[in-house]
Amino acid sequence: MKEEKYILVTGGAGYIGSHTVVALIENNYTPIIVDDFRNAQRSVIPRLEQLTGTKLSVYDFAIHNQQQLINLFQKYAFAGVIHFAADKAVGESVVNPLKYFKNNLGGLISLLEVMTQFGKQNLVFSSSCTVYGTPDDVPVTEETPTKQPESPYGYTKLINEQMIHQVQEAHPDLNVALLRYFNPIGAHESGLIGETPQGIPNNLLPYITQTAAGKREFLTVYGNDYATPDGSCVRDYIHVMDLADAHVAALNYLSSQHVGEDVFNLGTGNGTSVLEMIGYFDEVSGLSLPFKIGHRRLGDVPEIYANTEKATSLLGWKAKRTVKEAIRNAWNYEQLMREKQ
Ligand code: WQD
Repeated sequence: MKEEKYILVTGGAGYIGSHTVVALIENNYTPIIVDDFRNAQRSVIPRLEQLTGTKLSVYDFAIHNQQQLINLFQKYAFAGVIHFAADKAVGESVVNPLKYFKNNLGGLISLLEVMTQFGKQNLVFSSSCTVYGTPDDVPVTEETPTKQPESPYGYTKLINEQMIHQVQEAHPDLNVALLRYFNPIGAHESGLIGETPQGIPNNLLPYITQTAAGKREFLTVYGNDYATPDGSCVRDYIHVMDLADAHVAALNYLSSQHVGEDVFNLGTGNGTSVLEMIGYFDEVSGLSLPFKIGHRRLGDVPEIYANTEKATSLLGWKAKRTVKEAIRNAWNYEQLMREKQ
């Protein structure tokens, strides 16, 4: 009888969570999904089951509900926990910071209170490059000082990291990998799962694909007067399936040794500008994306991309997929989803 390696995946129906569920199953883990579907579609579950050929265990509740969390920890001997469940829209967080503090901080507190009642626990935490603010130098390493992020969303990620650090010091049985994502993009090659933002997309690539699909009139490039090669902002866009694979690598790392707490940059190590992303999209789609140059967006960082040597040397992980592949997969997903509506 194969010993089940159960992994609690909070927010497992979300964009990065659902892609990580696929990678977990591919690596013989058994994901146990907890999601209140506040920012995820229930229809993703049957698509995930179709994609993986697996019946999924899904629990529909918010992680603030501690008794239901405790019941799960009593039912499953989790080999690890991956904590995705959080709100993540930068713009919305500026307008409604209390929603972000309550959900992103309160949710983690609830989870940590339960985890520390159940002995040795491995935790993979979804953090963000936003904790670096506007870095003095690029590429950034894990030793690059964190700065006051530009938004309440980013601030909750920084506070989350600091909370985890303090709790791990008080509870040495906790074994933690903090994963600082750069810019996740793309979709699974099947087109069955992908990024489905609610309302008007904040992020660049979903806005591009919705413009190409005729849902938006044109893309506004938020400024082309930055001190960057072509004047538009530079980011490290990483394929969401590479990110998913990194979560499995982090779980394997924690399962193999007690590190206490460690932090990893997850990017490609390369920077791509907004105007380059538009050019890549036109090349991949054969279209000519309508766009206009607009004013800068408050809080935008001119340039940031990762040094990922630590993840490669300690996790044995490196991004394999290209930005163009991610754009192709995202465009494929947009077109398939449009056919379904
Ligand atoms: C990228 C670039 C925009 C939209 C944030 C969070 C990060 C992560 C990803 C959750 C910027 C430009 C965008 C548009 C544009 N969040 N842009 N027109 O702000 O780098 O990162 O989202 O996982 O933690 O901080 O991503 O995609 O919003 O913007 O010109 O319509 O595209 O100015 O330069 P960002 P983004």
